[in-house]
Amino acid sequence: MFITKDIKYVGVNDKNIDLFEGQYDVPNGMAYNSYVIMDKKIAVMDTVDVNFSHQWLDNIEKVLEGKNPDYLVVQHMEPDHSGSIMAFMKAYPKSQVVSSSKAFVMMKNFFGNDFSDNRVVIGEGDTLSLGEHTLTFVTAPMVHWPEVVVTYDSKDKVLFSADGFGKFGALDVEEDWACEARRYYIGIVGKYGAQVQKLLQKAAGLDIQVICPLHGPVLSENLGYYINLYNVWSSYQPEEDGIVIAYTSVYGNTKKAVLKLAEKLKNNGCPKVVVNDLARCDMAEAVEDAFRYSKLVLATTTYNAEIFPFMREFINHLTERNYSNRTVAFIENGSWAPQATKVMKHMLENCKGLNYCENTVKILSALNEESGKELDALALELCENYLALDNKNANKNDMTALFNIGYGLYVVTCNDGNKDNGLIVNTVTQVTNTPNRLAVTINKEN
Ligand code: FEO
Repeated sequence: MFITKDIKYVGVNDKNIDLFEGQYDVPNGMAYNSYVIMDKKIAVMDTVDVNFSHQWLDNIEKVLEGKNPDYLVVQHMEPDHSGSIMAFMKAYPKSQVVSSSKAFVMMKNFFGNDFSDNRVVIGEGDTLSLGEHTLTFVTAPMVHWPEVVVTYDSKDKVLFSADGFGKFGALDVEEDWACEARRYYIGIVGKYGAQVQKLLQKAAGLDIQVICPLHGPVLSENLGYYINLYNVWSSYQPEEDGIVIAYTSVYGNTKKAVLKLAEKLKNNGCPKVVVNDLARCDMAEAVEDAFRYSKLVLATTTYNAEIFPFMREFINHLTERNYSNRTVAFIENGSWAPQATKVMKHMLENCKGLNYCENTVKILSALNEESGKELDALALELCENYLALDNKNANKNDMTALFNIGYGLYVVTCNDGNKDNGLIVNTVTQVTNTPNRLAVTINKEN
C-alpha cells in the first residue's frame, strides 16, 4: 500500500488478539502499523508485535526489492511496536537503530541490547536526511510512554504520530473512526491530556497533509476533524451534550430507578441518554461515554460499608484519567445504612471543575414515593437547560432579557394567527429603569 510515492505501508493486522494491552476488548482486532520510506537512504518506521515478525519482515522484503534498509526508526518502545526489533536487526544487521536515549535504555531492559555500535540517538528537533526526505524528530513524552518521539517528513508533509491518532481495530474492518479512536484515546492516553496538548501545539507549526499513526488507518483527508477531536479530548472538555447513567444493581431495584430516570430524562428533552450497567458492559466503553458526554449520573449500592466493586473500579478509571469539567449526580441504594453517595463524592474530590447536582436520590432498598419524588427532582435539575430550550416550556415573557441586550441585529416578530412576521429593529433605547421601559423604533419600510 502506497501512502505517498516514496512511503509504503508494511504493517500487519492482528485478528488473534484477545485483549489489547492485557485489558481492552478489541472485537475487530488490532493493526500494528509500520512504514518504509524509500529514498537514497531507506528508513523503516517502527516494528510490530513479536507474533507478527515474519509477516512484517516479508512485507518489508517485498517493498525493498532487494535493497537494504539503512535505518530502523523506533518511535515508541511499547512491545506492540518494538516486539520485532531484534528480528529486524538479525535480518538487516547493518542497519542503524534511530531512537531517543530513553528508548535505548528500554531496549537494554527488554532485549539486553542497546545497539551501542549501530545506533543514532535523536532528541527534540534533530533531523535525519534520507536524500530528498528529511525527517525531523519531535519529542512527545507520555504520549504515551516517556521515550516517545513523533517524526515529520517535510518532503511529503507526513507526520508519523506514534500512538497519537491511533484506534482499536484491524485495517481490513470498516468501522467509524471516532468511536474506536475515542475508546482507545481515553483508555490508553487519557491521563496525559496536558502532554497531548503540548504535542498538538508543536504540530500546529507544521504543514501536515498525512498522519501515519501506529494503529488504525492513515489519515489524509479532513485532518482538522481529527485534530479538533484530539484537542477536545485532551483538554477534558465534553465532546457532546448528553447524560450518561453508570450504575450497578444487585437485585434490580437500583436498575429500576435508573431506567425510570432515563425515561424521564428523555421526556425532559435530553438530546442523548446513555445507560451503562457497569457489571455487564465493556468498562472501557463506559469510561469513554463518561468522557464523551457533559453529564454523569452515578447510581450504586452501599456494599461492605463502601460501594459496589464495579462502581469503585469505574470511578477509579475516571479519576486516574483526570475526569473533570462535567456535571455529576448521585443515586444511592442501601437497606440499612446507605452511604454510597458520600463514598462516591469522596472518591471524586480531587477532580477539577465538577458541578454536583443539588438533588440526590436515596433509595432504601426499593424505590418508594419519597425517592420517586427525588428522582423527579433530579430529572428536572439535570434537564433544566433542555427544558428551557423546549418551545412549549420556554419562558417567552422574560422581561429582564430586554435589559441584557448587547450590540447586534434585532428582529421584532408577531404572529397573525397563521404565521410569524418580523421586522428588523432600527434602534432599541432604554427609557427608564424604574420601571424597566424600552423604546423600540422600526422603520416601516423594513
Ligand atoms: Fe501502541 Fe503505546 O503502544
